[in-house]
Amino acid sequence: MSAIILKNLDISYGHTKVVEGVNIEVAEGESFALVGESGSGKSTILKAIAGLAPDWNGEISVLGQPRGRTVDQGFATRCQMVFQDPYGSLHPRKSVDTVLSEPLKIHGLGNRDARVIEMLAAVGLDQRFRFRYPHQLSGGQRQRVAIARALMLEPKVMLLDEPTSALDVSVQAEILNLLKKLRREQGLTYLMVTHNLPVVSFMCDRMAVMNKGRIVEIAPATALHDGSFTDPYTQSLYAASGGNPDRKD
Ligand SMILES: Nc1ncnc2c1ncn2[C@@H]1O[C@H](COP(=O)(O)OP(=O)(O)O)[C@@H](O)[C@H]1O
Ligand SMILES: [Mg+2]
Repeated sequence: MSAIILKNLDISYGHTKVVEGVNIEVAEGESFALVGESGSGKSTILKAIAGLAPDWNGEISVLGQPRGRTVDQGFATRCQMVFQDPYGSLHPRKSVDTVLSEPLKIHGLGNRDARVIEMLAAVGLDQRFRFRYPHQLSGGQRQRVAIARALMLEPKVMLLDEPTSALDVSVQAEILNLLKKLRREQGLTYLMVTHNLPVVSFMCDRMAVMNKGRIVEIAPATALHDGSFTDPYTQSLYAASGGNPDRKD
């Protein structure tokens, strides 16, 4: 079974179609990147999968279940999204404990204290952060909380929208390492938006390159080693990024 299937996906805002004819199949356990310049429709694809961009046509399936257009509570237990901005994505008046317990409450799950304690540990936050508020946390700590929140219901699929691009460079690597560790430990599938090709090289198995709402190429991340891309737009993106991201010279 595929973790995510997108078939002939079109997505619009009002009368403007911003994503057109997208086909992607992400295997279970795979880490798949969406790359391309700003405004090419990457976030819109994640939002449509998450149910946050309702005006779409085509097929969206997650773990074998087609997505409908109505609210789908069960969906949250299969798939969760982490947003780019850890400052905007946490409610300022909710403690870490409240933020992490909420998904369990909504889904009527017990054992909440134990789960919160376990998840704080899993994302590398000391237990003393449990009763703190967002303004008492650094950007990296906030993103750890956002990741912990996304994992509370034990989803198998994570949609990651530039999860480190709002963070200081020194913190970015820590969060990427955490995401890598969590994927390995929990057998997660990632669909990850990034405009950073070294991040693709570090985190992902394959990448789809988007330009103006369409996918122009799907390639293995190893193509970044030698620039063996076929599409001219991908080649220009690769050249603009300075070529092989792993080369140390
Ligand atoms: N809520 C919205 N309403 C109207 N247009 C939007 C909205 N969000 C994004 N867009 C437009 O959709 C296009 C794709 O945006 P987005 O998916 O955010 O691109 P990316 O994530 O690749 O930078 C852009 O032209 C953007 O201006
Ligand atoms: Mg975006």
